[in-house]
Amino acid sequence: MNAQQEIEKLKKEIRHHDYFYYVLAQPKIADYEYDNLMKRLQKLEEQNPQFITDDSPTQRVSGKAVKDFTTVKHSTPMLSLDNTYSSDEIIEWDKRVKKIITNENYEYVIEPKIDGISCSLIYKNGILIQGATRGDGDNGEDITLNIKTIRSIPLSLLSTSYFPLPTLLEVRGEVYIDKTDFQKLNEEILKNGGQPFANPRNAAAGSLRQKNPQITAARKLKFIVHSYGTIPGTEKFKTHFEFLNICEKIGLPTTLKNINVTKKIDEVVELCKKREFDRENISFEIDGLVIKINSLEHQKKLGFTMKSPRWAIAYKFPPKQATTKIKNIVVQVGRTGILTPVAELEPVECGGVKIARATLHNFDEVERLGVKIADTVLIERAGEVIPKIIKVIESKRTGKEKKFSIPNRCPVCNQPVVKEKEKDVAWRCINPSCPAHLENGLVHFAKREAMDVEGLGETAVSQLISKNMVSDFADIYYLKKDDLLKLELFKDKKAQNLLDAIEKSKNRPLSRLLFGLGIRNIGEKAAIVLAEKFLTLDDLMKATVDDLQKIYEVGPVAAEAVVKFFAMPETKKLVEKLKKTGTNMKEEIKTGPKILEGKTYVFTGELKNFSRTDAAAKVRQLGGNAASSVSQKTDFVVAGDNPGSKYKKAQKLGVKIILEDEFLKMIR
Ligand code: IVH
Repeated sequence: MNAQQEIEKLKKEIRHHDYFYYVLAQPKIADYEYDNLMKRLQKLEEQNPQFITDDSPTQRVSGKAVKDFTTVKHSTPMLSLDNTYSSDEIIEWDKRVKKIITNENYEYVIEPKIDGISCSLIYKNGILIQGATRGDGDNGEDITLNIKTIRSIPLSLLSTSYFPLPTLLEVRGEVYIDKTDFQKLNEEILKNGGQPFANPRNAAAGSLRQKNPQITAARKLKFIVHSYGTIPGTEKFKTHFEFLNICEKIGLPTTLKNINVTKKIDEVVELCKKREFDRENISFEIDGLVIKINSLEHQKKLGFTMKSPRWAIAYKFPPKQATTKIKNIVVQVGRTGILTPVAELEPVECGGVKIARATLHNFDEVERLGVKIADTVLIERAGEVIPKIIKVIESKRTGKEKKFSIPNRCPVCNQPVVKEKEKDVAWRCINPSCPAHLENGLVHFAKREAMDVEGLGETAVSQLISKNMVSDFADIYYLKKDDLLKLELFKDKKAQNLLDAIEKSKNRPLSRLLFGLGIRNIGEKAAIVLAEKFLTLDDLMKATVDDLQKIYEVGPVAAEAVVKFFAMPETKKLVEKLKKTGTNMKEEIKTGPKILEGKTYVFTGELKNFSRTDAAAKVRQLGGNAASSVSQKTDFVVAGDNPGSKYKKAQKLGVKIILEDEFLKMIR
């Protein structure tokens, strides 16, 4: 098989798996096998770029960021639906239908009303050529590049003998995000100090209208088709239900498995009531049902009003909101040590589920809502299982409400909590031995880049903690074989292997131990810099914020984090315990001849031969000092291209300024 043939074969195979995954929801292979197919295709295409086609699965994220979206005119207007909120209104609608479809039996299709963003997709000869938003109904925005990143949207359609693909075909549907992906996205946003999306619909809208398709690609959007714009060949299907079946055959995801067809309006009404409670079983958020007349001939007869079809109507579920009273506000400590205020509520039913807790996300949110203990509040469930508080109902205040204040100690381990940066919203417990985040911390401590304890992954750590066998990092060095054998995970050989790996980890250099301790803002590189500078943990623990800030690579935030971390009694206890186990606490550095001894260097601007961090490491290796700011004590300022304010300061203080070439000569 030549490269072109293999590329074609791989594309076909990947499309086939996309179809089984996204359309039929029956994945046939594991994720990593799929990734391997993708990688092979990518490689072949890199080697043979002449064979890359627009519809290749590798081309989903191929566009660059755009400045503005261009406007596109829809072939036929993208209308909206009339909303109803009660059985009576549904019956009223049906009466209007009966006036037009007289003396004939007709069928209703009842399908979920997906709470997403309406989009139109145009396929030319089966290849996706345009994706657009609804806009004002007549004109939308061209979001083709973003649409192409959505994996459930086929870049090319499958051909079937029953429905030969017409030259042009326009389908319409909803772009949405699954509830679990929505929750994960919001958690990620919160972790980075951002403002979470209010509901899955906003999340889908915000993700879809990104100017940079790379961002959209990272957002796990999905698509479901529910209607069409222009499709020549409509005589091939006589009903809406048939249309959806054709969509499924040609590779477009539908919501067929959540659809009902009936001839009885009573059954429609019944379903509307029943499905409000079933909505929890669907992986995406639905805000109601859409009732459509099934026959296209009947649809044609019924026609449209100015803004909506007469042949369809939306039945909107009551919002998942309720009012209740806050009994108390408690603080939870998450797996990463972040403190989250949670309101304990007087139990209330909300969207079919009994609710007794609501998240307040963070302390800024408590402030923003002005919420107090004993307040009456409006709560809403929007995609999440745990609802959130929308607002305080101030008219219900009695004067007995109590203000909630941010705790200055961790509610689990009673150690002081910190806000790392002024602008951060999150408060954290940074005690490495706090039970609330010990599990996460220990997995980090044991990982390859840190202490490298093979076999001490999430499952092992979780079992050790649940059986109370470890309550801090040092405890792993006290584990006995008999203890391990009591756990499900460890049969004889495995237990011994783990003990050997634990023993071996005692010899890691200080830099790895430092990284493993999980000090905020101290990544792998910063840990190396600190270890090489101080050489022993004892010396590092004595350093002040000032001492640390003098190091070129250490900024004020990291300096502060290190000092706070080592100032905690819990950290001191842990270090002492580790020492007793014989864990190495030194860094050996391969030093060259100390030709720069006693000299202090500051780097500014862009260097050609190294990054500033590497240059600073070189200076230290040769016995010199690398500082981050210029002072009277600086011997040399090494200036690269576009030097900054340090250059001016050096001039002012009369410090010797040298170019990179001179520096190179000095270290040779
Ligand atoms: S049919 C002529 N079916 O709801 C309109 N729409 O408020 C034909 N929607 O703009 C649309 N789920 O974006 C239809 N199963 C469904 C739907 C659905 C969600 C959206 C659609 C429309 C809006 C109307």
